Amino acid sequence: MAVAAAPRVLLLNGPNLNMLGTREPEVYGRATLADLEAACRGRAGELGLGLECRQSNHEGELVDWIQGARGSADGLVINPGALTHTSIALLDALQAVALPAVEVHLSNIHRREDFRHRSYVSLAATGVIMGLGQHGYLLALEALAARLGSQVEV
Ligand code: DQA
Repeated sequence: MAVAAAPRVLLLNGPNLNMLGTREPEVYGRATLADLEAACRGRAGELGLGLECRQSNHEGELVDWIQGARGSADGLVINPGALTHTSIALLDALQAVALPAVEVHLSNIHRREDFRHRSYVSLAATGVIMGLGQHGYLLALEALAARLGSQVEV
């Protein structure tokens, strides 16, 4: 019997998320990006997902990676950082590749400044998880595992 290949998920973190751990820990927590990615790798393994993690401070690089996901990934988890609130280019890229994409925010952007309440990316997101810190990324992976038909029971 053929064994189904593990669904592949690309996890993208946007600007300033490389500074997790030291950046406004009262808002974003004390876990570093390396901690967060390690937790995601662990959960992805349990869920039967292949996971690749990337972070960039550059909008164009994120656009390139989203475009490249077509054909190399089955789903996306994305925390676009501040680009959430400004980037039509990320929205267009997500719409162009048309992959299941879960938008994640560590903080609850609706409890914060007005300018954070709008998300362009949400217009292309399959679902949005916010305000739950690092746990939100793990929930996003669970949602994708269920949606992409991972062979492991979620
Ligand atoms: C963030 C929220 C954004 O408003 C902010 O610019 C970030 C992080 C979050 O994860 O809560 O960089 O996306």
